[in-house]
Amino acid sequence: MRLCHLNDLPDGASRGFDPRRSGQDTLLVVRQGRRLFAYADACPHHGTPMAWRKDAYLNAAGDRIVCAAHGAQFEIHTGRCTLGPCLDEALVPVRLSIHENGEVHIADDNIQQDKETAS
Ligand code: FES
Repeated sequence: MRLCHLNDLPDGASRGFDPRRSGQDTLLVVRQGRRLFAYADACPHHGTPMAWRKDAYLNAAGDRIVCAAHGAQFEIHTGRCTLGPCLDEALVPVRLSIHENGEVHIADDNIQQDKETAS
C-alpha cells in the first residue's frame, strides 16, 4: 500500500497517516535521514492516538516520540517507552519499504499486527 513519497517527509520530522481512511491517523512515521521509523498510532498505555496536534509526535528536542495524553516518551529507533506510565512497553512497529523512485509503501498490509509478527 502506497503511503507517500520520501520527499513528503521532512528529515527529523514526524507525520501521521490514515492509510485505511478511518477518519483519524492510525500510523505515525518519523524520518531520520533516509531511515524511516513507523509505528501504529496507539499508545500502549491506553491505546489512544498520540499526537497533540496533526503530525506532532515528537518532543521539542526531536529525539523522542511523545504521547500527548500522559507524556509517555518512546525511543524513535525502537518504539520502547523510556518514561511514563507504560515504561518498557513499546509501540507496535510497522514495516515500510522505500522504492528506488522514493515511493514509500507499507510493507505489512496489516498495521494492527501484534509485536510477535512485526520486524
Ligand atoms: S495514553 Fe499515552 S501515556 Fe497515557
